[in-house]
Amino acid sequence: MKQIYFDYAATTPVDPRVKKAVEPFFKEKFGNTMSIHKFGQEAKIALEKSRETVADLINAKPNEIIFTGSATESNNFALKGVTFANKNKGKHIIISQIEHPCIMETASWLEKQGLKMTRVPVNKYGLINPLDVKKAIRKDTILVSITHASNEIGAIQPIERIGKICRSKGVYFHTDAVQSLGKIPIDVNKMNIDLLTASSHKIYGPKGAACLFVRQGVKIEPLLHGGGQEMGLRGSTSNIPAIVGFAKACEICKKEMKKETQRLIKLRDKVIKNVLKIEKAYLNGHPEKRLPNIANFWFSFIEGESLVVRLDLKGIAVSTGSACSSAKLEPSHVLLAIGLKPQQAHSSLRISLGRWTTGKEVDYLIKVLPNIVKSLRRISPYGK
Ligand SMILES: Cc1ncc(COP(=O)(O)O)c(C=O)c1O
Repeated sequence: MKQIYFDYAATTPVDPRVKKAVEPFFKEKFGNTMSIHKFGQEAKIALEKSRETVADLINAKPNEIIFTGSATESNNFALKGVTFANKNKGKHIIISQIEHPCIMETASWLEKQGLKMTRVPVNKYGLINPLDVKKAIRKDTILVSITHASNEIGAIQPIERIGKICRSKGVYFHTDAVQSLGKIPIDVNKMNIDLLTASSHKIYGPKGAACLFVRQGVKIEPLLHGGGQEMGLRGSTSNIPAIVGFAKACEICKKEMKKETQRLIKLRDKVIKNVLKIEKAYLNGHPEKRLPNIANFWFSFIEGESLVVRLDLKGIAVSTGSACSSAKLEPSHVLLAIGLKPQQAHSSLRISLGRWTTGKEVDYLIKVLPNIVKSLRRISPYGK
């Protein structure tokens, strides 16, 4: 049976054009960017060209892009790096209640080191009110970190307004743009962003490459002390194949974003319209202010995990939410934050579409899902 992939928010397959661009860097062009000879020079040129391409997608300057190994690393770098470099200014950080676990966990760790943390709430659609951020800013606030778009429910935050508030208060603004990069336009200048996290494997590039945009002038401590790579902020030999792939993936997204977004919105809305025809099925997140590729639902009297398993048996790969938290038994902190009860949060399903999702695949999903829901409800202990 052919497997149909509806979990693009967890990770994406590498685009064949990316694979082709990367291949020479495994064999002929394998040099270390720090070497003086021709091999090294070739690698260094590829690295700097990649930096330009990634910067171009978010309207940054090339020297403001620090390549890292993952988005988790970039988010750790942003929070810890700004904290350590700005100890004299203050000890207070603002995040939201619906950040990815790598922000939530870093924030909790920093709290143990003596930092003060405010977690701003979201409304029932998962949206932050910028005025809540404004109210939370104190004299000793050094950083606000708010995700651009939720990996679980796809809610897009008003980051331009949040950025403007931070700028006017003299507080650094970081956004985790892992899910939005390449899907909706990002302009770090227009949006008043000081630091931004982006990742390759969510946009059809290889795993092992990501970046942190650090606006010129932002005070940040290095994450990895070493050989001076990445402007001295992140030592270790550059992973050139992954970085070249990340850049190629950015280039393709820039070229195709407009058309692809329209195509995905149509497919996503077809999924939403048809899933909501199922009795007692509800949409999580805002009907419009959401990423073009993510739809998240909850179904009364059903466990999300059972749905995932039954759909898998029918050849459809979906998830209950974040890949990082779906193995945990606790209900999603994002769904609790939008007001769902633990049992409702346990009954959620995330369907995320991508570059190779077809209308036929969507038709198959919306044909199969209602019957699975019905059959699970028949045996559900909650329904009785
Ligand atoms: C919004 C967001 N931030 C950060 C991450 C972490 O990415 P990685 O596990 O690749 O480091 C993810 C991955 O799911 C994500 O969706």
